[in-house]
Amino acid sequence: MKKQFNRRQFIKSVAATGIGLTISDNILSAVQPDFQSSPFRPIPIGKPMEKVRIGFVGVGLQGTSHVENLLKVEGAEIVAVCDIVESRVKRAQDMIEKAGFKRPEGYSQSEFDWRRVCERNDVDLVYNATPWQWHVPICLAAMNNGKHTATEVPAAISMDECWELVETAEKTGKYCIMMENCNYDKMEMMILNMVKKGLFGEMVHAECGYLHDLRAVKHDMDGEGVWRRDFSMRNNGDLYPTHGLGPVMQCMDINRGNYFDYMVSFGSKTRGLHDYAVTRFGPESAEAREKFTLSDVVTTLIRTMNGETIVVTHDTSLPRPYSRDIMVQGTMGLVRKYPEPKIYIEGVSKTDDRWEPVNDYMKQYQHPVWTELETVSQGAGHGGMDFIEDYRLVQALMKGTEPDMDVYDAVLMSAVRVLSEKSIAREGKTYKFPDFTRGMWKTPRELQVMQMAR
Ligand SMILES: NC(=O)c1ccc[n+]([C@@H]2O[C@H](COP(=O)([O-])OP(=O)(O)OC[C@H]3O[C@@H](n4cnc5c(N)ncnc54)[C@H](O)[C@@H]3O)[C@@H](O)[C@H]2O)c1
Repeated sequence: MKKQFNRRQFIKSVAATGIGLTISDNILSAVQPDFQSSPFRPIPIGKPMEKVRIGFVGVGLQGTSHVENLLKVEGAEIVAVCDIVESRVKRAQDMIEKAGFKRPEGYSQSEFDWRRVCERNDVDLVYNATPWQWHVPICLAAMNNGKHTATEVPAAISMDECWELVETAEKTGKYCIMMENCNYDKMEMMILNMVKKGLFGEMVHAECGYLHDLRAVKHDMDGEGVWRRDFSMRNNGDLYPTHGLGPVMQCMDINRGNYFDYMVSFGSKTRGLHDYAVTRFGPESAEAREKFTLSDVVTTLIRTMNGETIVVTHDTSLPRPYSRDIMVQGTMGLVRKYPEPKIYIEGVSKTDDRWEPVNDYMKQYQHPVWTELETVSQGAGHGGMDFIEDYRLVQALMKGTEPDMDVYDAVLMSAVRVLSEKSIAREGKTYKFPDFTRGMWKTPRELQVMQMAR
């Protein structure tokens, strides 16, 4: 297995050398093993657990919010906390102790201290909310040390990393879950329920994306600005496709009887981040001299194997209200979430060819997960959906049931980021998606979150 060793070493060294590097598929294709043509190996469903012992890596903004949620999820116990910033580890330790748990062990010796978390023999799940370039090295170390792993979005940032996650999950039989919280949003879950109950007929088209003015966030050197801005100076593509795609994928049964076939991306001109730096820091400032590569608006078009189309937008460098642009359309009608949720169903809506408010449908179509957890999720991150995703993960591990999302969901969504960069770099070349499931996607499977909605 010399080839694999080289490849892993390469990923680790890239992760260690710089923020914002995307591993070139051209370089890596030389060291890819034959795994892609090997048969699919199902990941076994884990045995029930009395509690889920968690090693948490990366307790910045999003990680701390997950820690807060996990403190309220019965059966979850955080036994180790790791971050390169020691004060953040201490903050998390204090929170956990204050909530009545044993003070977890802290790890902040180096950028690679998460290795010691992965090696502990009292950890069931390594959960990581670190910057993007660390997701895969940490997930691999967790699985190779016999732990399940959950990572923030996107799971991977190169095609080789995607394959590495699939290969390692299958080899070790461990879960590798990308925590796409937007799958658990109240409206998105209601839309999913409507789709599965046939309200829109057969799926035909969807729109979605991540449309969020991140100009200030990318310049915040106490937070994400430390790492996130660099990707806008090195890369050009849809860097963050998963928030929109997660819910749409579920509506279209992707990986469960359907799959992404091919895609193409276009990038607009690049203005927003530079203009912002000039206005905020002055035309002679160091920030104003930074050169950005990321298009202000990246538009991707995906076609699925079952013939649906999906438009995905990435728009994070211009002034604009927040949106995930969710629109789902079938043979009988459509629903649009932003700016105000509205719906039209032929023969059901009160007036022909006119939108009507979605709220009128809430009572009939609210997803049972929300009916069960709305009260307890109140006040948690992103309108409660983050609590629900953490709760569902811990519950699945404790009950010994399949988690809501799997490694194939994680890598297929992440692959959109990778292929969008390639497509833009080659002036709108169309790319086929690799079959990470090696044929398994053709078998229909019911989503775990829909089982209780039957
Ligand atoms: N799902 C969502 O809604 C959502 C929202 C925000 C961020 N995120 C994702 O969460 C992740 C983190 O984002 P954030 O906003 O919390 O960023 P952040 O910068 O606030 O937090 C990242 C933390 O990771 C730590 N870190 C960096 N390198 C590390 C290493 N080698 N070992 C241990 N710790 C390390 C940093 O010190 C920091 O505390 C990203 O992947 C981001 O895309 C998701």
